[in-house]
Amino acid sequence: MFTCALLAVVSLLFAVHYFYTSRKRRENEPPLIKGWIPFLGKALEFRKDAYKFLDEQKRKHGDIFTVQIAGKYMTFIMDPLLYPYIIKHGRQLDFHEFSNKVAPVTFGYPPVHSKLHPGLKEQIQRAFKLLQGDNLTPLTESMMGNLMLVFRQDHLGHGGWRSGSMYQFCLSVMFEATLLTMFGHPAAARRQTGMSTLRNDFVKFDNKFPLLIAQVPIWLLGETSAVRKKLINHFLPDRMSRWTDMSEFIRMRMEVFENYENLRDVDKAAHHFAMLWASVGNTVPATFWAMYYLVSHPEALQAVRQEIQEVLSLSGVEFSSDTDVKLHRDQLDKLRYLESTINESFRLSSASMNIRVAQEDFSLRLGESRSVAVRKGDIIAMYPQIMHLDPEIYEEPKTFRFDRYVHNGAEKTDFYKDDQKLKYYLMPFGSGSSMCPGRHFAMNEIKQFLCLLLLYFDLQLEDGQSRAELDPSRAGLGILLPSADVRFRYRLRVV
Ligand code: HEM
Ligand SMILES: *[C@@H]1O[C@H](CO)[C@@H](O)[C@H](O)[C@H]1NC(C)=O
Repeated sequence: MFTCALLAVVSLLFAVHYFYTSRKRRENEPPLIKGWIPFLGKALEFRKDAYKFLDEQKRKHGDIFTVQIAGKYMTFIMDPLLYPYIIKHGRQLDFHEFSNKVAPVTFGYPPVHSKLHPGLKEQIQRAFKLLQGDNLTPLTESMMGNLMLVFRQDHLGHGGWRSGSMYQFCLSVMFEATLLTMFGHPAAARRQTGMSTLRNDFVKFDNKFPLLIAQVPIWLLGETSAVRKKLINHFLPDRMSRWTDMSEFIRMRMEVFENYENLRDVDKAAHHFAMLWASVGNTVPATFWAMYYLVSHPEALQAVRQEIQEVLSLSGVEFSSDTDVKLHRDQLDKLRYLESTINESFRLSSASMNIRVAQEDFSLRLGESRSVAVRKGDIIAMYPQIMHLDPEIYEEPKTFRFDRYVHNGAEKTDFYKDDQKLKYYLMPFGSGSSMCPGRHFAMNEIKQFLCLLLLYFDLQLEDGQSRAELDPSRAGLGILLPSADVRFRYRLRVV
């Protein structure tokens, strides 16, 4: 009885204190949404279903509002016509502050510090060039060879129908082929056994990834700490020095880390592990969704397969099962319908949040006659999933249309809202200077995977499969996973 009364008094005092000390909306600031739990604010509702939460706030408060989420104040800019003002705003909005804090804790390396590690940040950024431009050619060629290797090893042996789990299929092929392409080949005999252990550990870590990003301490997460340690140890320098056919990109990063004596071997290894996550964490679910939409839309699959066959035969290549398929970069670039298919599946499955941190109090201009006041330390956020599913921009937004991004045989780039043409209408890779440096490689490798899949196999969903749904638990972090795996059947087309 007494404790009850005491609790009531204490919580009343807390509430009164909170009411008087918490942030109040000032002049020219956006509407402020706080929730009744001090500090946490709206964090729980946001985590449960970010899309639904933001959509509701937009209805109530309009296109710009500030939400208190886990002690942070986040100002959401919901109208995609306003995105250019955020993306082009240089000086007062910082892109990297947030990821520089969160990534080291998640992957277990010390924060990159400009005084302790002079020039390291810049050199890491510079190395990203090795994923782009002309450097994409050797990378793409290497990926093609590795995909063929994995397909031959695991899938091209038998005739007749086989059945499989689609996510598992994409995971095992893309994980191995991407790893081999980026990091090179370990000694041949150990490759296969080592690979499945590594992949299983990766999945265990990846399952906890949203919690780690949310800054939940790793010691609260059971075996995760031990699993991460094992994964990191895989990339210790003396092991990596024995791998062959490593990409220039990873080789360059190894050389860069060598110049810093205050980085321990495990710190370097943790950086490499982070890059493994970056290169497969989103690619695997993205590959799954593209495959799933094709297999569940036979007319789209047929059209895309025909396009691939045409591009191959235009280059005078006779496709058969015993010679490896080779598709070069310029051939991949010609696959319009395939690219549209992939973009359409990005549109339907991506839920990344684009974040900037305000470096000072200032007034953020959002057009000729509009601006909002922003405080130092506030987060400015865009949540493109709302745009991707806006019926005003995309007719029947929940429907998969493989040719949504093609018009008269060319890429379609005109999408409108309020009769104004949108500069940004598809943002699975972030925006501005923090945009994903691996995006061109990712597009190419997904194309290559789908080309092989469609050339080699007949594919269908197993009877009675219900529609794949999005699992919202990684909302804000990239491509969403399916809430359950999908059973499918496949059979070699060529003998
Ligand atoms: C479909 C596949 C992929 C998707 C959807 C994706 C998406 C993203 C997103 C949304 C970001 C954050 C951008 C921001 O903060 O605004 C990012 C960052 C990053 N991505 Fe990707 N990514 C994919 C594949 C890849 C691949 C294959 C690689 C490497 C080979 C890669 C390397 C990176 C790196 C290194 C960063 C951090 C960049 C930085 O620190 O500035 N990504 N990616
Ligand atoms: C697909 O989207 C990317 C950006 O994510 C864009 O650069 C590319 O041109 C798009 N292709 C098509 C066919 O829409």
